[in-house]
Amino acid sequence: MALLRPAALVTLMSAAAGGGRGRRAPPGGLQSPSLSSSAPPQPLIAAKQPFPVELKAGKKYGWCACGHSKSQPFCDGTHKTAAPGISPLRFTPEKDGTAWLCGCKRTRCPPYCDGTHKDEAVQGARLPAQP
Ligand code: FES
Repeated sequence: MALLRPAALVTLMSAAAGGGRGRRAPPGGLQSPSLSSSAPPQPLIAAKQPFPVELKAGKKYGWCACGHSKSQPFCDGTHKTAAPGISPLRFTPEKDGTAWLCGCKRTRCPPYCDGTHKDEAVQGARLPAQP
């Protein structure tokens, strides 16, 4: 089975919901209701661009995969209540240095940005209100 890009999923979900061509993603990104109860929960778009962070070799990090963390791009445990079906990605870099960690939560090579944030589904999405 081929993997679908997030933008393709939005198109499929929009078509299934009766939406027409050119219909935009719902406010807040891809958080529209699931088509079935077995569909995985969708992460919140935390940012429309990656976060540059300094990583240390051998140190363990938890990248926020749900988008709800207030410590972006890292996990603060909010997924336990806000997105119980999504877990953080734990990783340990092999080298010291700057890394660009995904903020849109749509990358296909987490935790790193792969440019997916440039898609209309991300750039056209409304971000959650900031306090
Ligand atoms: S910030 Fe998510 S792919 Fe770039």
